Amino acid sequence: MKTMTCIEDLRQLASRKVPRAFFDYVEAGSYAEETLRANRTDFEQIKFSQRVLVDASNRDLSTTIAGEPAKLPFALAPIGLCGMQHGDGEILACRAAHEAGIPFCLSTMSICSIEDVAESVDKPFWFQVYVMKDRGFTRSLIDRAIAAKCSALVLTVDLQVLGQRHCDIRNGMTVPPELKLKNLLDIMTKPAWALSVLHGKRKSFGNLAGYVPDQGNINSLSYWIANQFDPALTWKDVEWIKGIWPGTLILKGIFNVADARIAAQTGAAAMVVSNHGGRQLDGACSAISVLPHIADAVGSDIEIMFDSGIRSGQDVMRALALGARSCLIGRAYVYGLGAGGRKGVLRAIDILRRELDVTMALTGVNRVEAIGRQVIADGKAYF
Ligand code: GLV
Repeated sequence: MKTMTCIEDLRQLASRKVPRAFFDYVEAGSYAEETLRANRTDFEQIKFSQRVLVDASNRDLSTTIAGEPAKLPFALAPIGLCGMQHGDGEILACRAAHEAGIPFCLSTMSICSIEDVAESVDKPFWFQVYVMKDRGFTRSLIDRAIAAKCSALVLTVDLQVLGQRHCDIRNGMTVPPELKLKNLLDIMTKPAWALSVLHGKRKSFGNLAGYVPDQGNINSLSYWIANQFDPALTWKDVEWIKGIWPGTLILKGIFNVADARIAAQTGAAAMVVSNHGGRQLDGACSAISVLPHIADAVGSDIEIMFDSGIRSGQDVMRALALGARSCLIGRAYVYGLGAGGRKGVLRAIDILRRELDVTMALTGVNRVEAIGRQVIADGKAYF
């Protein structure tokens, strides 16, 4: 892979290697993408306070995430259709995460199944679950995650109803891609992608194989969400899941102080402050602007993770400074996967690691636990 200096380099390479429909799927925010943009612009408004002449020779980026030791304060987020960015994408990303010493989370809407990943890696990974109307099927997914010895269950609570992403409709995105002329022409210009997907274990939603719905286009994500996901999901279901999942539970998609207070009482090990990468409620404010309020309200009661908008180690630092203990990395690693498979994911992780490491040095902190609001230039920090 030619020199990749930052996540943007990986993004540009991925945009050339991954078919349009799948690249757009990752890029997209919902509706007018106001929240998608706010996630980025608000990050850029948060400025650091430089410190000098602090011994920065022994920096340590390791921590624990929801009780698991991790070499870096971030994990790879669950990504739907990850195996359509690169053949066997979930397996390659999981291997890269394990090599880097950080957790990997498999999505319910993955291409490789829980079992495919479990038999291809030698350490436990996390599983993300969506609650379906058919609670029996949800339960069977959780049982499969238990059988695969997944070390944490991530319950996504903000996507029972899908925020529309216009490009998915325009591109007619399905898995596998429908063999329309437009798709075929696009795929013909991406031979490495085609070969990797052709040789991949699966071409459709691996966890849902055999769970046959009764109508419609079963290969589209929006079909599954509209027809199978349960919009009646409530806190009672969280209790139900807590009762059947024996291990670490993480609630993903908390975005409001009142909800955070309830989440903190559920017994979940952690919650992820997130607006789903600007892919759900458009018109919501940025996730980073909400984080400090949630951290102030419940940070001592429950571990706080963060996602939505992170494209650099500086962004990881900002989230940690504003109250997260760790982050989930989504698009930033998916660009690496599309750009170069396992090596591309490793590159993405390494880019974030280096950026975070240097930012720690220049703000005068040596350990992840020492990152706090003192590194933010809020006026006071300079004087
Ligand atoms: C699924 O989680 C999506 O954002 O498409």
